Amino acid sequence: MRKKIVAGNWKMNKSHDEAIELIQSIAASSYEESIHLIVFPPTVYVSEITKITASTEISVGVQNSSQYDAGAYTGEVSSSMIKSIGAEYALVGHSERREYFNEQNDELAQKVNQLLSDGLTPVYCCGEVLKEREDENHFNIIKNQIEEGVFHLNENQIQNCILAYEPVWAIGTGVTASSGQAQEMHQFIRSLLVEKYGIDVADSISILYGGSCKPSNAKELFGNPDVDGGLIGGASLVAEDFIAIANSFG
Ligand code: 13P
Repeated sequence: MRKKIVAGNWKMNKSHDEAIELIQSIAASSYEESIHLIVFPPTVYVSEITKITASTEISVGVQNSSQYDAGAYTGEVSSSMIKSIGAEYALVGHSERREYFNEQNDELAQKVNQLLSDGLTPVYCCGEVLKEREDENHFNIIKNQIEEGVFHLNENQIQNCILAYEPVWAIGTGVTASSGQAQEMHQFIRSLLVEKYGIDVADSISILYGGSCKPSNAKELFGNPDVDGGLIGGASLVAEDFIAIANSFG
């Protein structure tokens, strides 16, 4: 059985006090025990947040990490530093990092390697922009992002990763992929995993959907056989909505 996961990507939002209030509200909420909650706050708050989540089942991750081990890389934060403050997960290749910080698949593959070697779980993100979908090129784009980002990994390593499909045209736009579009792409991603690693490995990897996922559409999206949960942006900033999404599995 694959893990059901609901993850909140807070992006560059919340003051310190607001961030603490949000995690306290989430930690005080009740949700289905079998669901694994992960929050991705701004890195600067992680140390304090992991102290609050330590007595809960909630995990914490960061939104970005360096591909380098240590040294003269001004402004960067390494995966070993992240691990040392209690985070266990890291987003890799979110479309906003790809778009605004020009992150490329080869660099993302290095980030994945660095995280795995420091014992963290990468959440590798992929997604096509609207034009690529309109040109019916979306399957090729996703295949390329996955192949170049994670297909250098061996069977054990890939099983320590989570994948997230986030169509860029659905992020923060209020436009969600239809349930059918989400399932179609998730099934495609799983078929790539089957081809490369075999059915048992492919069946063990969680693939999350992200892009305007909210309490009103989560149930339908999560009802798909290959959608193992969500990577939530805007709606994860409100504890009530985030928890309502976590309680949306059938
Ligand atoms: P929204 O849920 O705000 O569309 O953002 C999705 C996202 O980018 C999560 O990483």
